[in-house]
Amino acid sequence: MNPLQTKVSKVFTDNFNAKPIIVRSPGRVNLIGEHTDYNGGFVLPAATDKSAFLAILPSNKSTGKWISIDLDRTVEVDFKKNIPFSDKKDSWANYILGVIEQFKNRNLSVQPFDCVIAGDVPIGSGMSSSAALESAVGFAINEINGLGLDKKTLARLVQQAENEFIGVKCGIMDMFASIHGKENHAFRLDCETLDYQYFPLNLGDYKIVLFDTGVKHNLVESEYNLRRQQCEEGLAFFRKYFDKSVKNLSQVPLAWLQASKSQLNPIVYNRCQYVIEENQRILSACEDLQTGNLKDFGIKMTATHEGLRNLYEVSCKEADFLVDSCWHESSVLGSRMMGGGFGGCTINLIKADAIDKLFDRLSISYEQKTGIKLKMYSVVTANGTEVLGMRYEV
Ligand code: GLA
Repeated sequence: MNPLQTKVSKVFTDNFNAKPIIVRSPGRVNLIGEHTDYNGGFVLPAATDKSAFLAILPSNKSTGKWISIDLDRTVEVDFKKNIPFSDKKDSWANYILGVIEQFKNRNLSVQPFDCVIAGDVPIGSGMSSSAALESAVGFAINEINGLGLDKKTLARLVQQAENEFIGVKCGIMDMFASIHGKENHAFRLDCETLDYQYFPLNLGDYKIVLFDTGVKHNLVESEYNLRRQQCEEGLAFFRKYFDKSVKNLSQVPLAWLQASKSQLNPIVYNRCQYVIEENQRILSACEDLQTGNLKDFGIKMTATHEGLRNLYEVSCKEADFLVDSCWHESSVLGSRMMGGGFGGCTINLIKADAIDKLFDRLSISYEQKTGIKLKMYSVVTANGTEVLGMRYEV
């Protein structure tokens, strides 16, 4: 049993004198397909064994007590009010409140509950610790209230919680990946239709490894929202001058873009070029995965980084340094920044027996360059959000 499962369970029983149900909800990695989710394109994520754990039971009162073990904080919540916490120390509780609000918006009644949370998804690493927590909460509320929402609906609900209550205009990838992950598999999600297909991860002698830059630049949110606007501007252009029925930027043919070079703002042009090319790249990367051609898969990861750095401009010098260093290594098939950008992790495909030595060397040069201690996570894939052990009888 995962020690965090034992821990949340024990703290719950100590505080509330009852045996809770436990929900585990994973963080995610994304193999390829970055900044395509909010452009209606494809992504290729996998859920990891790093997860949020939630112990929960209805409180039978109009209030609930929520405990974060990691932050050593406890909040009392009045379920009639749903008022966000303004104290930064308790902002973690807003991720729970946001999800409750979405159930209420759908006229689904949520019984007040007590809960205890803990997790080992590294915060700020770009592995979506917040989506893991929100997905755990959505899944648990659905369970203890017997609401019967399906997984796609839950993922959409959780995304809306993040968009509306937390105010981060993220796409659907993170929560969808957390909820739908499957051990030893990645899955290709069409973010327009929400259709998805699992791909076995047969990596042979290679492993997926993350190097954590240890930085999260302030720009991340404002630049993320700006990229969304620039993509919307591009899409509006193609709708106006080419085909008004085109649904999203990912569907725009490259030829339309190339024919528009003189009319489009050069920055918008670059953003569109990246998105259209990235979407094509994912499709051929999935073929590489199916045929076991990891070398070509790695080349595409690297091309993604070039696009994110030069056309989409969401990388940062720390991630570039790690990626550039890895590209020179014969044991590395592919390396790129992962997630929204401006920090977080790079994702790498590395020969298993070379990982430790590479990490040792990279740690030294990275610390010399940035003054930051490098962290590494070897990715182990896992199943998506689930109730562990005892289920709740409604
Ligand atoms: C963040 C967002 C995701 C996605 C990625 C970029 O992680 O939360 O929705 O847009 O950036 O691919």
